[in-house]
Amino acid sequence: MAKKDSQKIMLVHSEVKVKLLETYLKRYFNILNNSKFIGDIHYFDLFSAEGVYENGGKGSPIIVLDSIKNAYYAAKHKNGNSGKFHCMFNDIEESKIETLKKNISNLKLHYSEFGNIEFLTKDYQILVPEVSKKLDKLPKKEKAFVFIDPYGYKEVRISDIKSLLKNGNSEVLLFLPTHFMFRFIEDGTPESLYEFIEEIVPKEQWPKSQTGLVFIENLKNGFKKYLGKNFFVDTFVISREKNQFFCLFFFTSHIYGFDRMLDAKWELDEEQGRGWRYSSGVEDLFSCVEIEPSTEKFEDTLRSFIGLKSRNNKEIYEYTLRCGHLPSHASQILKKWQENKELISKTPSGENGRKSAFYLSYKEYKPAEPIKLIFSFNNI
Ligand SMILES: C[S@@+](CC[C@H](N)C(=O)[O-])C[C@H]1O[C@@H](n2cnc3c(N)ncnc32)[C@H](O)[C@@H]1O
Repeated sequence: MAKKDSQKIMLVHSEVKVKLLETYLKRYFNILNNSKFIGDIHYFDLFSAEGVYENGGKGSPIIVLDSIKNAYYAAKHKNGNSGKFHCMFNDIEESKIETLKKNISNLKLHYSEFGNIEFLTKDYQILVPEVSKKLDKLPKKEKAFVFIDPYGYKEVRISDIKSLLKNGNSEVLLFLPTHFMFRFIEDGTPESLYEFIEEIVPKEQWPKSQTGLVFIENLKNGFKKYLGKNFFVDTFVISREKNQFFCLFFFTSHIYGFDRMLDAKWELDEEQGRGWRYSSGVEDLFSCVEIEPSTEKFEDTLRSFIGLKSRNNKEIYEYTLRCGHLPSHASQILKKWQENKELISKTPSGENGRKSAFYLSYKEYKPAEPIKLIFSFNNI
């Protein structure tokens, strides 16, 4: 069967997809590799393809190996040594894996000192339980990242994601062609989409999605409900053409990993932090206006959160991330309320908090850190 253009040539939406992977992994590899509490790092690419597209576009394996090479040499330069990075690249098509091996060798992207590299040609559904078992056996100090980038959605199940996360040391990035899934929901739903959704919520309880973006939001909420409170789920929306929305879903049980992913996402979309938007190529009327994060909706929810009962700095940090926002956004809002004399901050012993000090960071959130401030509104 002839290949579609998107399978031979790297299209812009695939470039955006690997851009998020790259932006996040650069942070992930460097932070973990420089921590004395972390051992080896494992990367699993379950649908890797051959690494280089016919138009020269770089696919996930090349992007990842490049980031590993940089992180390895940066740590060696800084600390005199580096941890190891072990990679697994899998694709059901043997010829793609053979080409990938050649591409990696031609581009001089891997040396054994970095860690092990494994190439497999297994069916995803056979491989998932094997990877999950491998992750369960990892020593506590070691961390893993799994990238799942299928063409469709038929193979993937949310239970796979759960099995890959249950060890507590791993993070998963999943790409889903949500536009096609949404279109099917609108038209006649194929059995495979029912199977996918049925696992998340009973079919008859699936909420109506008026638009592709609402469908993504419904999927995210369904994933969150399915996985429970101990997991963080976020989305990165990529629009291919006007009103065609595809989506990367990020899953982790570690709040700091989530913090760093949100940071990567907001770096790629400074205004909405939602994802990458379709550009018609026509100069936007507002393109000369300095971009500021859009935090209005978040300001309202944060107001209700603190209005309900007093909240401490740790609670506000976690709530901010769960809303998909950065601590810097919450700090800006709290600062504004403080200047308007709406917000009061007190230390646990009842003294007034310092002006413009909010202590919203992972460092302050760690269990060993005491609560620094308690926030409430002036009128309650
Ligand atoms: C969207 S592409 C991956 C693109 C790649 N991540 C990149 O950034 O360039 C999906 C790949 O999955 C492979 N594939 C399809 N079905 C598979 C299966 N059941 N198990 C493993 N790989 C599969 C295809 O051969 C194809 O190369």
